[in-house]
Amino acid sequence: MQIDVVTLFPDWFDWFTSQRHVAGALAAGHELRALSLRDHTPLSGGQVDDTPYGGGAGMVLRVDVIDAALRGFYGVDPVDLRTQRRVVALTPAGRLLDDRLVDELAAEPELTLLCGRYEGFDERIVEHFATDAVSIGQYVLAGGELAAMVVCDAVMRKLPGALGHADSALEESFSVALEGRPEYPHYTRPAEYRGWKVPDVLLSGHHAEIRSWRRRRSHDRGGGDPSAA
Ligand code: 6GU
Repeated sequence: MQIDVVTLFPDWFDWFTSQRHVAGALAAGHELRALSLRDHTPLSGGQVDDTPYGGGAGMVLRVDVIDAALRGFYGVDPVDLRTQRRVVALTPAGRLLDDRLVDELAAEPELTLLCGRYEGFDERIVEHFATDAVSIGQYVLAGGELAAMVVCDAVMRKLPGALGHADSALEESFSVALEGRPEYPHYTRPAEYRGWKVPDVLLSGHHAEIRSWRRRRSHDRGGGDPSAA
């Protein structure tokens, strides 16, 4: 998979790409590039934003700046680019990220993540250049960079080569295997600590019982998306 993050702070991703599962995915042939929004800005002094029409606080990323950046990086009109690869605008107004959307994005051969800053994007960016708008939760971050890292983290750990155990992404919280529910609780040694015991069934070696206990406990934790089944 090839992921590009378009950002005002490409350096931030140096730390991110050194994380073990990300580094593992990159070593396995996946690619993550952090592209600087200022590289191609047509405005003087590296300007990328402007005051909102209609007034109000904050600054808005300009549509001509994103147009020039995408054109510069990909050599095509961004209106056509979005027919060739998934282009995701990261904005609190977007579709809420969940395991299903992560799976969807992880299946893409190529992905571009646009990081907003300030008050966000000129809406024409979302309308004409992006295929999707994605949010990571109902709160506002100062910019899309951390959200982009969250998306990359969740997507990249699903890619072949990112995990020590190929299975560990399969039956985990919110996965289809668990019908969209949170994962069952885990325990490790010691079997007893300060009087707190690990459930007997997990020490029993009865795999069928362990499986049914885990399913039950996942179920007890509730939530879930019945349509994920
Ligand atoms: Cl994607 N961006 C910003 N700025 N804030 C957010 C977000 C994204 N998702 C939740 N809050």
